[in-house]
Amino acid sequence: MQPCLETVLRRTEAPLYWIGAATAAWVSLWSFYRLLSGFRIWVLGNGQIVSTKLGKWAVVTGATDGIGKAFAEELARRGFAVVLISRSQEKLDDVSKSIESRFSVETRTIAVDFEAADIYPKIEAGLAALEVGVLVNNVGISYPFPEFFLNINDLDKFVTKMINVNITSVCQMSRLVLPKMLDRSKGVILNISSASALYPVPLLSIYSATKAFVDFFTQGLNAEYKSKGIIIQSVLPFFVATKMSKIRKPTLDKPTPERYVASAIRTVGLQSQTSGYFPHAVLRWITTSVIPVNLIMKLAMKLNMAQRARYLKKHKQR
Ligand SMILES: NC(=O)c1ccc[n+]([C@@H]2O[C@H](COP(=O)([O-])OP(=O)(O)OC[C@H]3O[C@@H](n4cnc5c(N)ncnc54)[C@H](OP(=O)(O)O)[C@@H]3O)[C@@H](O)[C@H]2O)c1
Repeated sequence: MQPCLETVLRRTEAPLYWIGAATAAWVSLWSFYRLLSGFRIWVLGNGQIVSTKLGKWAVVTGATDGIGKAFAEELARRGFAVVLISRSQEKLDDVSKSIESRFSVETRTIAVDFEAADIYPKIEAGLAALEVGVLVNNVGISYPFPEFFLNINDLDKFVTKMINVNITSVCQMSRLVLPKMLDRSKGVILNISSASALYPVPLLSIYSATKAFVDFFTQGLNAEYKSKGIIIQSVLPFFVATKMSKIRKPTLDKPTPERYVASAIRTVGLQSQTSGYFPHAVLRWITTSVIPVNLIMKLAMKLNMAQRARYLKKHKQR
């Protein structure tokens, strides 16, 4: 028995050695490649690609606050004339004046409510004569607080509203600007999805699902048009300190919209799907590659239940 085992071990020793060596070499090469591409994306970045060589105008939806406003300002800083689209004309006028005086660029405003489905002829007319180089599909809404699907106030209207703002806007705005970008064989479309598209988020189920739509739509569209010179990127932030997230104090992992956008814009042309900001890329890696998805969903449910309880308590006390 013993000599037989020894023979087997002797015969398998060499193949096992080579399998081990090949695995170690593959893991080292892969890690080195990941390190290099991480360095390329998060340290060197791609600062130049988003420039007015793409076209004179940039269009930003949801441009009067938060991430959208930060994109509008960053694009103006890069010399783009900017079309600002949001609901309130008064807020649009304020942002427009501030951008024109700070960056000496032209601006135009289009006041529409993306909750409605019949606004696109008005937007089309507003963009008709413009050479649009960049479109940022940023407008989006979430829940006032995490809630069970059937408990959502005015659920019927809420569903339509969220689909129109978060999904229809992205498809319709892309429909309006892509044809002219294709004629010129250049253009960039940035679609702001969310980290909630990476896994289902209980108590924010409709929001999370709309953002998964945005991410899938973007990846599909990018595959269709990248060979035609158009970059279509899906952006998946974790928390950013804005009105929507109700985070007032920015931290390293919850940056200001300006800090987030300054980082995200440098990933254009390097990643078709991006977290946009290095600490968010780390969070993404932990929540998708280290922790199993069912655990993430349990954790999200627990956190959202706690947030829901806090919200309900606060609003009952009033
Ligand atoms: N903040 C985060 O932590 C976070 C994380 C992941 C993803 N995101 C995504 O990032 C995007 C921007 O979020 P944000 O946090 O910057 O939001 P925000 O601070 O609430 O700003 C939203 C912007 O959209 C406009 N808007 C809202 N509803 C509209 C409507 N029905 N029609 C037209 N304009 C409308 C608002 O302007 P008016 O009210 O003047 O119309 C405002 O300019 C969203 O798509 C969001 O899902 C945000």
